[in-house]
Amino acid sequence: MKAKISNQFSAIGALAIAFVLIVGCEGPMGPAGADGIDGMDGMDGIDGNVTCLSCHSDGNIQAVNQQFVESVHSGGEVAVSYAGGRAFCAECHSHEGFLEFVATGDVEGDIVSPSAWECATCHDIHSTFEAVDYALRLDDPVAFKFDNSVVADFGNGNLCANCHQSRRAEPNTTNPGTDFTITSQHYGPHHGAQSNTLYGAGFAEIAGSASYPSPGMTSGGETFAHMTIGCTGCHMGDYDAGTGGHTFNPNVNSCTTCHAGATDFDIGSTMTDIAAQLDVLEGLLVAQGVIVEDVSVEFELDPETGDIVEVLKSDGFHPVVATHTMAQAQAFFNWVGLLEDRSFGVHNPAYTEALLTNSIEAIQ
Ligand code: HEC
Ligand code: HEC
Ligand code: HEC
Ligand code: HEC
Ligand code: HEC
Ligand code: HEC
Repeated sequence: MKAKISNQFSAIGALAIAFVLIVGCEGPMGPAGADGIDGMDGMDGIDGNVTCLSCHSDGNIQAVNQQFVESVHSGGEVAVSYAGGRAFCAECHSHEGFLEFVATGDVEGDIVSPSAWECATCHDIHSTFEAVDYALRLDDPVAFKFDNSVVADFGNGNLCANCHQSRRAEPNTTNPGTDFTITSQHYGPHHGAQSNTLYGAGFAEIAGSASYPSPGMTSGGETFAHMTIGCTGCHMGDYDAGTGGHTFNPNVNSCTTCHAGATDFDIGSTMTDIAAQLDVLEGLLVAQGVIVEDVSVEFELDPETGDIVEVLKSDGFHPVVATHTMAQAQAFFNWVGLLEDRSFGVHNPAYTEALLTNSIEAIQ
């Protein structure tokens, strides 16, 4: 490209020199000639609304880009390098995998050089070339993987729900019985089952003193407002200091439209209460040998004594590969899924509370 441009410049330069030479030897001007014949009609121009500049000149792309670099999606470090290329995982873990899934409903083989999310992962840009050409991919209501007869509508959040959902059904659905064998340290719903919590379906609904709200409903049997606003209602509000917009981090401004006066997410101390219930359940699971803490030993310099000291660092918990009672396996499934949901009940307070209350009762 550069070479071409400089060639053009030198051609123009040569013409200019020739022109000066010709002008230098010009004599008096002769009479004007007759008008030439009309030329042919030109071709129609491109429609004024089919324009590249409607997007490429406004501040939108740039502003969104700046927000997007703050999103974990854009870095994709954990997600892409480890799982982005594997056929089994790629539909949720790389740009290429997701696009193949959008087109065919499946990912056929491994992807050689997977990349992280970009604008075109989620938007079908460059199809009509108009300013509104930002259609979302996969915006239909989502059939859950744990049971594809269960379908939920998260609005614009349908896009997110394709990936942010449980990868399997709870233990008593996959292997009904009184015992359950955990065969892998990775067993569980998978790291981000937020659509399941929000809709209120797909966890182990152990019977107990707490009753479960119907999917998409409050305990009072009304349509649940958090479902109506989907994921984007809380995660894509107006951008503010590293939250909202295309950072995909929730912000408190998105809560105050309904929760007037809220200053943090811990509305009605729901998050504090759920965190406490998760702790109780964790304690029971440890005591009963269902989960075990991964502890690694690290060596650090003690700045006061100058000695090298041994420090124990927790890398979280994993389930013990063994046969457990069904209640224990279900309680574990709920515990790990609700912990990794990371909203500590915000997504669906009533459903989360009921799952934890009944899980604790079942194995106490
Ligand atoms: C609906 C908005 C929109 C319109 C209209 C649009 N683009 Fe884009 N274009 C984008 C976005 C978003 C990107 C990705 C930007 C980024 O990654 O920084 C992009 C990227 C590009 C790129 C970089 C390469 C790529 O594909 O990622 C080129 C080249 C481009 N556009 C050309 C055009 C041309 C030419 C037109 C008009 C015929 C056009 N665009 C119309 C939104 C638009
Ligand atoms: C249905 C979509 C889906 C599939 C299929 C999937 N994942 Fe994920 N995975 C996710 C989502 C969503 C997250 C991020 C959740 C979050 O941050 O809350 C994630 C997170 C992860 C993480 C990061 C956990 C952490 O600690 O940050 C790893 C590792 C991972 N997945 C591995 C895999 C592997 C390996 C496979 C294939 C065997 C796979 N995933 C298949 C959706 C999926
Ligand atoms: C992870 C998915 C995802 C990625 C990646 C993504 N977007 Fe979006 N984008 C969305 C969703 C979802 C909405 C709708 C937001 C809402 O419901 O409020 C949206 C909305 C928009 C809008 C407003 C839509 C309109 O019709 O005016 C623009 C502009 C936009 N995105 C541009 C971009 C650009 C530019 C990039 C890349 C830098 C990008 N998006 C990357 C999911 C994504
Ligand atoms: C193609 C699958 C996919 C889609 C679509 C998707 N995500 Fe993600 N999301 C992931 C994965 C995988 C990760 C984990 C990335 C990592 O850790 O490297 C993630 C990470 C996140 C995180 C950050 C979690 C953290 O650790 O900080 C948030 C928040 C999030 N997604 C929300 C959304 C929202 C909201 C949407 C829809 C607008 C969406 N995602 C669309 C797969 C997806
Ligand atoms: C009612 C508001 C609300 C709705 C609706 C909502 N979220 Fe959240 N989400 C939150 C809050 C609040 C947190 C906790 C954030 C924190 O503590 O920093 C959270 C946490 C998360 C996290 C972990 C983020 C992190 O940084 O660790 C992910 C991923 C996520 N939500 C994805 C989703 C997806 C996908 C949907 C739609 C299926 C959704 N959320 C719907 C409010 C919401
Ligand atoms: C569209 C309105 C709406 C938005 C926006 C909204 N909520 Fe809610 N939220 C509700 C309604 C309605 C309830 C009561 C549901 C019920 O009756 O079970 C509720 C309940 C809650 C609860 C349980 C409260 C309690 O006292 O038991 C928490 C926690 C919560 N929301 C957090 C949030 C957070 C955090 C955000 C923003 C990130 C948010 N909500 C955004 C409508 C909303």
